[in-house]
Amino acid sequence: MVVNIDKSVEPVLEWQNISLSIMVQTAEAQAERRLLHHVSGKVSPGEILCLLGPSGSGKSTLLTALNRLQRLSEGEIRFQGQPVEMYPVTELRRRVAYVAQRPAFFPGTVEENLGFGARLWGMTINPPLWLEKVHLDRSLLSQPADTLSGGQQQRLSLARSLAVKPDVLLLDEPTSALDIHGARELEEIVLTVVAQENIAVLWVTHDPEQARRVSHQVLLLTEGRISACLPTEVFFSDEAPAVVRTFLEIKGDGP
Ligand SMILES: Nc1ncnc2c1ncn2[C@@H]1O[C@H](COP(=O)(O)OP(=O)(O)O)[C@@H](O)[C@H]1O
Ligand SMILES: [Mg+2]
Repeated sequence: MVVNIDKSVEPVLEWQNISLSIMVQTAEAQAERRLLHHVSGKVSPGEILCLLGPSGSGKSTLLTALNRLQRLSEGEIRFQGQPVEMYPVTELRRRVAYVAQRPAFFPGTVEENLGFGARLWGMTINPPLWLEKVHLDRSLLSQPADTLSGGQQQRLSLARSLAVKPDVLLLDEPTSALDIHGARELEEIVLTVVAQENIAVLWVTHDPEQARRVSHQVLLLTEGRISACLPTEVFFSDEAPAVVRTFLEIKGDGP
């Protein structure tokens, strides 16, 4: 069950009219390709916004644009009311943390990897506490990170971001490599942490049922454009616009 949020709270991250293009090389010449078209949205502390959309619709592009891993062609992103360019980029990426679809660790133990960001920021962390928050046993601290299972690595990656106290989490399909049990466990972990730490979350998922379980709002992207952005209960109701119902029907026919 998702936690109720206080609608009067100001958005922590807000993006207005953002567009993003890249140059692609064709046989004859360079051509501009637009990956995002005039996308706007916002997320508040304690809120989970799920991004749904077909593969290639720009979900990962939007996430990475939000903490300046990609350069905008147009539009503005504000973090805590200030344009993101006002923050040193490393500080922005600590506070608006991108958790990649496939976790990457450097050679070293779980404890060393968990503390990597904290060392960078001169923060003292309590490693067993962070492992506990993501349901990992503290006996794993001294193990090489790359010996963990896929699900354990995904949770370690989440703990590493959480340990440096982000205000916003950008989760890119965090359960795509997990079985249903692992996925449900990660959902529970995120819901608990979001409520405890009052974090705002943008969560890309290919699974509408997951979005229905965890989110307050759902944003549907199609070919880089917003097709719908609705409260979750409306998105999954008969009141949803045709574009949403068609997307859900196609998804429902899938594996
Ligand atoms: N660096 C890049 N160079 C060329 N094409 C890219 C690049 N990044 C993304 N794309 C293309 O942009 C579109 C959106 O990609 P992406 O945001 O990864 O989609 P999604 O996460 O929704 O599956 C896709 O067609 C993808 O092939
Ligand atoms: Mg993606």
